[in-house]
Amino acid sequence: MHDLDGQVALVTGAATGIGRQAALSFAAAGAHVVLADVAKTAGEEAAHAVEAAGGRAIFVATDVSRDADVAHAVTLAVKSFGGLHCAFNNAGIAPRGAPVAEMSEEDWDRTIGVNLKGVWLCLKHECAHMLAHGGGAIVNTSSIMGVVSGPGLAAYSASKTGVVGLTRAVALDYARAGIRVNAVCPGGIAHTGITDRPDNQKDMEQLMQATPMGRLGEPHDIASAVVWLCSPQAGFITGQALSIDGGFTTW
Ligand SMILES: NC(=O)c1ccc[n+]([C@@H]2O[C@H](COP(=O)([O-])OP(=O)(O)OC[C@H]3O[C@@H](n4cnc5c(N)ncnc54)[C@H](O)[C@@H]3O)[C@@H](O)[C@H]2O)c1
Repeated sequence: MHDLDGQVALVTGAATGIGRQAALSFAAAGAHVVLADVAKTAGEEAAHAVEAAGGRAIFVATDVSRDADVAHAVTLAVKSFGGLHCAFNNAGIAPRGAPVAEMSEEDWDRTIGVNLKGVWLCLKHECAHMLAHGGGAIVNTSSIMGVVSGPGLAAYSASKTGVVGLTRAVALDYARAGIRVNAVCPGGIAHTGITDRPDNQKDMEQLMQATPMGRLGEPHDIASAVVWLCSPQAGFITGQALSIDGGFTTW
């Protein structure tokens, strides 16, 4: 008997990093998992990894900034596994930072489009289904840059702060309808697509030095909290943004 036996979970940004680990962790908790991502080959590989570990999973190519793609992912979850009970809206990008005067409109639009509009589109379609089918639990990925900020991070920080506001607003929209909505705010997490990028190595080293626990987190540090937030154990928690950051935002 597992916490999420018989449930269906949708994970966006599931091809690599935090999302991939979350897909594995949802399956280990008993859920059937729909993995959504723009990266097709890595996404299919991640779905195979979930099945190889004994879970049930499908991959759906999805750009979370496109309404039709998100609607399709939710429909496919329901068609394939008979419902949608949990969602982890995690897809995100972190373009190379720049001071605001040097930042292009294109970078701003793309960052907000994926990180903020993408989460909004997911919430819109997930909540529409959950409202009609008895509720559910949703977790959005923000960041410590949604709690504090840093130089060169105007678009990223605005998008992740927006995710916290969105989480609170939608939690209140549906608090009486059986839908819980929370956010996680990861600190520096090692072994993900974003953090393994060569141009990010210096920033990650600085982030590790500034983290009171003296280390970066691992994808499972986030995934385990996400699965818990979706489980009945967290049944009275909604509208919260949980920092999982080795103490970074406590400093
Ligand atoms: N790694 C960290 O230190 C850290 C810290 C705070 C927050 N985050 C957030 O965690 C989330 C996951 O990032 P990660 O670190 O695991 O990096 P990652 O690059 O491994 O994962 C991000 C995933 O999102 C996918 N993606 C990108 N654009 C997409 C789109 N338009 N539609 C669908 N999928 C898309 C990518 O293909 C990738 O699989 C992101 O939202 C990121 O901002 C990461």
